Amino acid sequence: MKRLTLMALALATSFTATSSFAKNSLNVICSTDSEWCKLMETAFEKETGIDVALVRKSSGEAFAQIRAEKRNPKIDIWWGGTGDPHLQAAAENLTQSYTADNSKGLLDWANRQATQADNKTVGIYAGALGIGYNANILKQKGLPAPVCWKDLANPIYKGEIQVANPNSSGTAYTALATVVQLFGEEEGFNYLTQLHSNINQYTKSGSAPIKAAARGETTIGITFMHDMIKQVKKGFPIKVVAPCEGTGYEVGSMSIIKGARNLANAKQWAEFALRPDIQSMAVKAKSYQVPSNASAVVPAEAPKLSDVKLIDYDFATYGSSDVRKRLLKRWDTDVKSLPR
Ligand code: G6P
Repeated sequence: MKRLTLMALALATSFTATSSFAKNSLNVICSTDSEWCKLMETAFEKETGIDVALVRKSSGEAFAQIRAEKRNPKIDIWWGGTGDPHLQAAAENLTQSYTADNSKGLLDWANRQATQADNKTVGIYAGALGIGYNANILKQKGLPAPVCWKDLANPIYKGEIQVANPNSSGTAYTALATVVQLFGEEEGFNYLTQLHSNINQYTKSGSAPIKAAARGETTIGITFMHDMIKQVKKGFPIKVVAPCEGTGYEVGSMSIIKGARNLANAKQWAEFALRPDIQSMAVKAKSYQVPSNASAVVPAEAPKLSDVKLIDYDFATYGSSDVRKRLLKRWDTDVKSLPR
């Protein structure tokens, strides 16, 4: 009887162990648009035979989940999403160092992301923030086309603008940090409170506002320019504006989670995701970011970052734990809580 109980216990233990660690499985949290997440999942499974369990979450939410699971990580690798929360995760020791063999082929900005985080993250793509609008709706409403960030604070756009919530969305955090870097913190927050009066909705995901503009549910959306191009390619009357004051950008990143149960598979995904042929596949999911591998094909549709007035985005500061936490808290109290 005693032997039987022990055997049952041993069986139960081995079952628990295999259900969280299986030689052939990998748990991925993905923060790009879901079409690209799906494409990566399928391609990786096909090539390696490893069974991928993938969830899509916006960058800020993915970061929150990884932090909440710190003592018992369920995720092995975090692929995609804006770089700031990846840097914060590195600073909080939630992710682990790994220098992929394939990082040799990466562009400087992608390796810089790794260097400043002790190789706990690495750049996989880049993209600039912009203002997008539905040209038909703008015309119907007789509104002028916005050219600058400051134009969006004009009361003529009341209820016409959509952007994500910077707590959940890396895109919206990039916008918040961009405004603070462009105008200084006090003037930046002053601007954000004026903008707030014109916002019809703060969405959870970063690209949702331009999808809503494509459907005619909002006139203007603040997102990454490549997310606007996706809607243009789908045939919607979206116009892309590079704001006159200059704009911020993201270094979309990838990090292996500290304590990953399927570490070898996570490393295999990391090598896979940095390969030029794999990065070149993004266009199949209508994702038009600039790839980080110098040998990957830059999609013809990708907004040319050299033609955009980019700010010298300070990733070390705005990806630090203290600054990100403080700015988000200030946004909640000084902006989000105000009546519209
Ligand atoms: C879209 C963009 C990505 C970006 C991501 C961030 O998917 O195409 O380039 O990294 O949004 O998502 P989030 O929902 O966190 O703003």
